Amino acid sequence: MMKTGITAIGCYVPERVVTNDELAQMMDTSDEWIVSHTGIRERRIVAEGEAASDLAVHAARTALERRGIGAEDIDMIIVATSSPDYPFPATACLVQHRLGAKVAGAFDLSAGCTGFVYAVETARAFVEAGSARRVLLIGSEVLTSIANWEDRNSCVLFGDGAGAVVIESLDGVAGHQIMSSWLRSDGAGETALIRPVSGSRSPFDPRKHSAADLQLQMDGKRVYLFAVDAIVKTIRTLCEREGILIEDLAWIVPHQANLRIIEAAAKRLKLPTERFYTNLERYANTSAASIPLAIDEMIDNDLLRPGQWVLSVGFGAGLTYGGNLIRW
Ligand code: ACO
Repeated sequence: MMKTGITAIGCYVPERVVTNDELAQMMDTSDEWIVSHTGIRERRIVAEGEAASDLAVHAARTALERRGIGAEDIDMIIVATSSPDYPFPATACLVQHRLGAKVAGAFDLSAGCTGFVYAVETARAFVEAGSARRVLLIGSEVLTSIANWEDRNSCVLFGDGAGAVVIESLDGVAGHQIMSSWLRSDGAGETALIRPVSGSRSPFDPRKHSAADLQLQMDGKRVYLFAVDAIVKTIRTLCEREGILIEDLAWIVPHQANLRIIEAAAKRLKLPTERFYTNLERYANTSAASIPLAIDEMIDNDLLRPGQWVLSVGFGAGLTYGGNLIRW
């Protein structure tokens, strides 16, 4: 049986830091409210004109350099994003061109904030089916470009960033094996997180639609309840499937949406919150980029050891959810 895994990781966040206090100068909010309701203290926001493909290219170059390979060694590029440069062409194609990945296929994957988790399993399947030798997968988001800055309920939650990984066979290469993934969807939650206008359901009509219709809309309470359930279900299912105890997980790397969601899930699982790695206080919710951004930081902080069980868990628009169990 082929062992497939992550052999390199690279991340990028825009330079500009925006604190809660700065947001409080733009709208009716406060550092106290944001920290107490979400755990977020600051986020990165792109410079004018900077798009998802720009962040993705930075992150990808770092991952390729760390792996010691060139773009021509990649034969598939997947960009997981809900904030692509354009509805089409795919952001992955722009990244492929900029990197000079001349022999790579490229496509975007849309699974909201679960995008990275979905793409890890997609990449593994490509490699194990023999359709690609090396997949470059990038979660890249500029959610601040689609947030409604007049809706304090949602806009304070988001930040921008990108995280890239190389996924390939571990035959003769050091890496971290993807042991198992679990992917689910509950499309009944269509409207809980949605950009309602500009698709084929409601093409943009300037007589009917406002700018807010083109932006992200969120039912915060509904997402909160769904997210806690999704984390608990995913962790239980993956551990059961692999025959390990939840207590055996060295780290859980959750999608970095909101500290209260993570604390509620930890409580239900009777796990210490410290078992869940978080860095959302500095980056806010970067959607499909949040899990690789967290893993990269854990490596920098020397938190991961060979042989440890590490479980990533995501949830987001769709509603989608799921996780990847990795043997570090
Ligand atoms: N600043 C100050 N006050 C605010 C703000 C803000 N930024 N936002 C909302 N409020 C107010 C509300 O207007 C409300 O005031 P009212 O009582 O006078 O009406 C009050 O705060 C409480 O609002 P609630 O909605 O009840 O606040 P709640 O405690 O439920 O927290 C939150 C809201 C943080 C959005 C919560 O519902 C949540 O975490 N939901 C999940 C959201 C999320 O993480 N989404 C993204 C994840 S999925 C993905 O990543 C795509």
